[in-house]
Amino acid sequence: MTENAAQTPSDMPIEVRLADERHACPSGKLGFGKVFTDHVFVAEYGGEGGPGWRDARVVPWRELHMSPAASVLHYAQSIFEGLKAFKGDDGALFTFRPEMHAARFVRSAERLCMPAVPEELFLRAVDKLVRVEEAWVPTAPGASMYIRPTMVATEGFLGVRPAQSYTFFVIVGPVDAYYAEGFAPVKIWVEREMCRVAVGGMGAAKTGGNYAASLYAAERAKKRGYAQVLWTDAKEHRFLEEVGTMNLFVRIGDEVVTPPLDGNILPGVTRDSVLTLLRERGVRVSERAITIDELRQAADAGTLREVFGTGTAAVVSPVGVLGFEDGDLTVADGKPGELSVALHDEVVAIQRGRVADTRGWVHAIP
Ligand code: COI
Repeated sequence: MTENAAQTPSDMPIEVRLADERHACPSGKLGFGKVFTDHVFVAEYGGEGGPGWRDARVVPWRELHMSPAASVLHYAQSIFEGLKAFKGDDGALFTFRPEMHAARFVRSAERLCMPAVPEELFLRAVDKLVRVEEAWVPTAPGASMYIRPTMVATEGFLGVRPAQSYTFFVIVGPVDAYYAEGFAPVKIWVEREMCRVAVGGMGAAKTGGNYAASLYAAERAKKRGYAQVLWTDAKEHRFLEEVGTMNLFVRIGDEVVTPPLDGNILPGVTRDSVLTLLRERGVRVSERAITIDELRQAADAGTLREVFGTGTAAVVSPVGVLGFEDGDLTVADGKPGELSVALHDEVVAIQRGRVADTRGWVHAIP
């Protein structure tokens, strides 16, 4: 159900209706994904209105109104994105590589048989909402505004087929630095029973179902004393895939390995950025399959130097301990590795406009 440009004019206006009462960003701890602003962007597709996106608007925050029979509530036809906005030292507003998120949203939509949101509309919706809520973009070190574009199937119909009506909305909220207690390595359980995705499934799409599939294993790992799981392939549980909700990187000797985008792996924007920065540093980087055996052999040989995850929320998250049925494996000295720290600091500096943007990654919000 790919949207065609003629059905949604590229200069489609976005109406702005401001709330009568506007709140200030609360002071104190924000956490992650708990605080939202006064407005929401909404647009609709299909139904009585026919194909094409319509009624794009920024309106006061409101609950979504939909039929209890809406397809998303039954068959999980939904996709989302996560990106961040930052306020520079001079008050200018930026987002980081928003066009990559817009393009991934189109690919996720295709996998879920949903209409594409034209990239240009996605980008303008994000810019418009962040600009309206600019007073909420935090400036504390590490804090930012998290942006959550989402599309859900709204048709009230219980037959199993792609819905004929959809809502695309964007919500935003200020978030704290991900590491409230510092950049501490996490303990991760290597999951060898359950899986998040399988070959031919939806692993490359950012869709709620993949996250729902991850909850049981993650909760079980927490009960065992681990922060998250390291996902292995669904068939043999030999190949490493992702770590929690993040892409995985393993540094063995002088090589940094990350699993290839084979359909099971989410094509992360931070993953791509970290790969670029590593290559620019002259580090040998391989997008290739890596097994548990290879990881354990490297640990035995003393060549396992770092394991870390990458994602929008935490940027880079070092792994200190990997848990197996026969005991824990400490990664190197259990402290954040030098590349984890350097990559985290470099990405954050680029995002905040503190170093020159030589790669065209930073988008200034008009
Ligand atoms: C990220 O690392 O940015 C994620 O995908 C986590 C998000 C689902 C909260």
